[in-house]
Amino acid sequence: MDDTGALDVLLNEVRVFRPLPQTIIEANVNPQEVTGAYRLAQEDPLAYWEEAALELEWFRKWDRVLDSDNPPFYRWFPGGQCNIVHNALDRHIRTVNRNKLALIWEGEPGDSRKFTYFELYRAVNRFAGALRSLGVRKGDRVAVFMPLLPETLIAMLATAKIGAVHVCVFGGFSAKALSERICDSQARVVVTADGFYRNGKVINQKAIVDEALNSACADCVDTVVVVHRAGVDVDMVSARDIWYEDLVRSEAPETRTEVMEATDPLFLLHTSGTSGRAKGIVHTHGGYMVGVARTMNWIFDIKPTDIFWCTADAGWITGHSYVVYAPLLCGTTTLMYEGHPLYPQADRLWSIVARYGVTALYTTPTLIRMLMRYGSQFPRQHDISSLRMLGSVGEPLNPEAWVWFHRHIGRGECPLMDTWWQTETGMCMLSPLPVSVLKPGSVNKPLPGVEAEVVDRQGQPVPPGKGGFLVLTKPWPGMLQTLWNDPKGYAQAYWEKIPGVYVTGDVARKDEDGYFWIQGRADEVINIAGHNIGTAEIESALCVHKAVAEAAVVGVPDKIKGEVAKAFVVLSEGRELGEDLVRELKAMVRRELGPVVVLKSVAFVESLPRTKAGKILRRVLRAQELGVDPGDLSVLDEE
Ligand code: PRX
Repeated sequence: MDDTGALDVLLNEVRVFRPLPQTIIEANVNPQEVTGAYRLAQEDPLAYWEEAALELEWFRKWDRVLDSDNPPFYRWFPGGQCNIVHNALDRHIRTVNRNKLALIWEGEPGDSRKFTYFELYRAVNRFAGALRSLGVRKGDRVAVFMPLLPETLIAMLATAKIGAVHVCVFGGFSAKALSERICDSQARVVVTADGFYRNGKVINQKAIVDEALNSACADCVDTVVVVHRAGVDVDMVSARDIWYEDLVRSEAPETRTEVMEATDPLFLLHTSGTSGRAKGIVHTHGGYMVGVARTMNWIFDIKPTDIFWCTADAGWITGHSYVVYAPLLCGTTTLMYEGHPLYPQADRLWSIVARYGVTALYTTPTLIRMLMRYGSQFPRQHDISSLRMLGSVGEPLNPEAWVWFHRHIGRGECPLMDTWWQTETGMCMLSPLPVSVLKPGSVNKPLPGVEAEVVDRQGQPVPPGKGGFLVLTKPWPGMLQTLWNDPKGYAQAYWEKIPGVYVTGDVARKDEDGYFWIQGRADEVINIAGHNIGTAEIESALCVHKAVAEAAVVGVPDKIKGEVAKAFVVLSEGRELGEDLVRELKAMVRRELGPVVVLKSVAFVESLPRTKAGKILRRVLRAQELGVDPGDLSVLDEE
């Protein structure tokens, strides 16, 4: 990028979707209340968050809402004592939620399990007691390397209940990635499964743990707890490995919930993003609990009758926040599906929605585009009219995919919440609310109590309509507290690039109405003849063409222009590639974005390289194109 970091804005999306009158009437937070919340949050953000905190139960009230004495090491609710599990489970047992479904789980082969709040409470207590009997104490780390099973959620909650710190590692990671995370966190216990089902195959997961624990720095692990899932043969190492079922059998269904300081760590979660370096993000009990509960309630308009399905794996932040913690904090029913979204065929999602009466579906642009590629005949085969709220997160949702999702899945009626946030932010930060006016492709505005801005390299706000760096200008309760073992790295990575603000690493623009549009990652911006252009805009323009299901764009060197764009395109079902199509796509980009964007070439590919979390790995495409080292490939999804 140039000196100022200014970005050219070329995409001009003008469609607007207003909330239906019925949505406004039924919304938990009506437009007047939203306006009031914004006013309060602007005048006194701490009062806004204090009000949110008071909706939860605390063992001791905080001395201050926020301690900003030592920035950027902000401390939320210091002096307050709580435990997120008390709010997510214990307190529901005394209310009408006691016998309500907390969790619905479906395995890939079609088996299903359900837990009421009471049943889940007892299961969590048993495993919490078991962890205590293994010698796990407050502050110790427990690694959770699991497929998406009820026991995954149980292990996380049980760990938090006794004040230990969970370190989830996505179950599809390699032994190397697992051992790095175990070594970094010095976990004492690993919770895993024998294996799991994925796309019709059985994956042997325990073998990966065995390999990971071969490395010397994994000596910290004294116990491996193994859940029976797929019936694969495993080697149980004596004195180290124990079956989950054997461990919990004799445990009591009640055990004490540890009293935690609000600022005590709840979990570590390593993020490698698309860049490759794993950092241990630290989240706490108090602030995180307040942040995820409030955002869940407001964005998804939670009602007592909801069945909430966030399709993320529990091993990612989206799963931590909106599969596990927030739904339970809100007393709603969370749904988990173990397997591949297209197994045994492309209607699996819709069949799950129809069978359980899912009311809110929170998913990713990758999955939306994938399902869109298979066409609307699949959702039409099922009655998905129970859906009332839609959500998206993880990558820019291009307007064409937005409109498809809204029309074909949401009947043109369901509010579609495109939520922007990060592992580091813990909770949704920019997002519409159900009563908002929606613009496809925009993540709307910062939520009440969140302050975001688009700035140049010096930290000066850029005028509306111009692109720049997306920063967060005030601390927020769900924020990471630090990087594990690396407080200096925390300050440097997020707070020192532009002094005084949190740098997200994304580029964005704000339009005349104050709506934010994410243009991609700052390190992926393409500079064509002095114009800085975000990858998301070019990709969105390509997706306007009916033949394009998905696109990834990278910059390649050019003698005259400095850089030009190269597109990698996945075609929609039944579309033919050819010279004509290349010409049409080039013309399409020119028409949508103007002559500035020189699309040099188009390659047709079967699929795009992605991280295991489903994000497009543009650096791999670029490296391939330039014949250079693609960097760390352990995050690459081989599927
Ligand atoms: O680039 C943004 C993109 O995902 C990044 C955060 O990734 P991660 O820490 O893995 O967390 C993902 C789930 C919270 C952001 O810096 N991102 C996330 N949501 C959006 C998005 N990009 C565009 N639109 C979004 N709604």
